[in-house]
Amino acid sequence: MKKKTVLALMLVGALGFVFAADGEALYTQYCQACHQAGGEGIPGTYPFINGPIKNLSSFDVGREFVIAATLFGLKGEMMQRGYAYDGFMPGYGPAMNDEEVATLLNWIVEQTSWRRRNAATQTVRPYTAEEVARVRALALTPDQVHELLMKVEAQMHGANPVPGRNQNP
Ligand code: HEC
Repeated sequence: MKKKTVLALMLVGALGFVFAADGEALYTQYCQACHQAGGEGIPGTYPFINGPIKNLSSFDVGREFVIAATLFGLKGEMMQRGYAYDGFMPGYGPAMNDEEVATLLNWIVEQTSWRRRNAATQTVRPYTAEEVARVRALALTPDQVHELLMKVEAQMHGANPVPGRNQNP
């Protein structure tokens, strides 16, 4: 390898280290095209994620689902506010490392302008690279992520548990 190339590579490495993952930039690059700038989605085509991600992030299986959908994608029928979705979301696991996924999800959760009424009062513990790594190790398919969503919904609409209220103080 030429000396200049080696130097350039070292420089790129050093810059990457200096500029830690930027949640907003990651959102713009990987999520915004479908879920839109404010996470509002396109009803009937791309579900909104502005409220849901914060809600889901407040209890364990919900967090697992949010990470899994981001890493592995999602395929199957779902309902949101009376709109039916039967779409496909590709996974972004290959595009981002664990740290970047955690930074992206924390950025989404922190968007106060995105918070919906009942999401606003929920405490959400930050995502960590370790938590993302644990889910990545599950190596799910988009269909399996959908099964996870069914589990999440059963818990959300079940007799007792209400998202964000009973779990994760
Ligand atoms: C190419 C379009 C597209 C992109 C880009 C995309 N999504 Fe999705 N997303 C979808 C579709 C379509 C669904 C619904 C899938 C279905 O119907 O099963 C979805 C569903 C979701 C859900 C589930 C919402 C719920 O309420 O259950 C989450 C969470 C989510 N996306 C997060 C993300 C994140 C985070 C990113 C960026 C890393 C992202 N999406 C990028 C199309 C996309």
